[in-house]
Amino acid sequence: MIPIQSKLPQVGTTIFTTMSALAAEVGVINLSQGFPDYECSPVLIELINEAMKDGHNQYAPMPGVAALRQQVVNKVNKLHGSNYNADTEVTITAGGTQAVFTAISTVVNPGDEVIIFEPAFDCYAPAIKLMGGIVKSLELEPPNYRIPWDMVKKLINNRTKLIIINSPHNPTATILQEDDIEELTAIIRSQDIFILSDEVYEHLIYDGQIHHSMARYPELAERSFVIASFGKLFHATGWKVGYCLAPAYLMNEFRKIHQYLVFSVNSPMQYAMAKYLEDEHVYTDLPSFFQQKRDYFRAGLAQTQFELLPCYGSYFQSVKYQNLSNQNDVDFCLQLTKEAGIATIPTSVFYTRQTDHHILRLCFAKNQQTLDAAIERLMNFKPL
Ligand SMILES: Cc1ncc(COP(=O)(O)O)c(C=O)c1O
Repeated sequence: MIPIQSKLPQVGTTIFTTMSALAAEVGVINLSQGFPDYECSPVLIELINEAMKDGHNQYAPMPGVAALRQQVVNKVNKLHGSNYNADTEVTITAGGTQAVFTAISTVVNPGDEVIIFEPAFDCYAPAIKLMGGIVKSLELEPPNYRIPWDMVKKLINNRTKLIIINSPHNPTATILQEDDIEELTAIIRSQDIFILSDEVYEHLIYDGQIHHSMARYPELAERSFVIASFGKLFHATGWKVGYCLAPAYLMNEFRKIHQYLVFSVNSPMQYAMAKYLEDEHVYTDLPSFFQQKRDYFRAGLAQTQFELLPCYGSYFQSVKYQNLSNQNDVDFCLQLTKEAGIATIPTSVFYTRQTDHHILRLCFAKNQQTLDAAIERLMNFKPL
């Protein structure tokens, strides 16, 4: 074997792979990885078939199919009062993950510092490290997981290049509030710091709250990459199509990397999605669709020994299990899978230091029968 110097020596098999493998065992209900267990719209599938039959099977333009870019910009500009240009300020990507990687590659150089908030989605830190950047993580505290802006201020220095925000937040289901926006704006005003705003759960937001997209605030938008995922929007996480919005001067650099990373994203999906998005109900109906699931799941969980944390957005619900066990969250999660047949995610895996608050993350993007069966099992679960 030729010796290889690993670029990511700390990275092993993730808990998502472990839990999904366990969940694949017969009879286990999988509330671990975030994906729906119901079908996406048959209309959309029909549109994809049509696009293929119509011959849209060759390379799409590098930044994405023009009609889809236009639909994205129409949606975002309408929802947030922004003014993105479909030619120069949006690129269709291979899911949110590629958009995140490309945005990080675009601005992070060796020695640059990037502030992230933990618990954090798992793809930020590796991308920063691959670019030679330094991860500066700040831990958020349950149950509210508010960003400690005074500590953010203390972390900032002339090497700080990027702040990564994620709202609605995975795994905690919290959202940015108006005062967070004020704090963030005040902090970056006098600094050359970019923002990566991971907004893949932008439409999964509840109780009539608004989504504080960076796109809404010109002073923030002018330095932000706003990232979204059609996987979340269309209940089809396996399709891996998403997009990134950024002002033209940033998007120009983003596309230089995008074109050598993937060049372009698969065409029939893009033609179909553009048509499908002509009906705005596709996204305006999403909050109520998921709120109904959230409310149902929370009402069921309230009858169990698990303690609910707030859920303002995303399709995740966090629970504390201190009434049932004082094991660490990874061990408890494995026990729950083996004994109750419910796969979940321990939230310590979202922290660099594996900080364990004895909290599990459960995904409720599931059909009614799955939610009913999960609630029943959780209700009857008595650790041995
Ligand atoms: C916070 C967050 N960002 C990005 C992604 C990646 O999105 P995609 O599946 O479109 O690559 C996910 C997917 O779960 C996510 O939860």
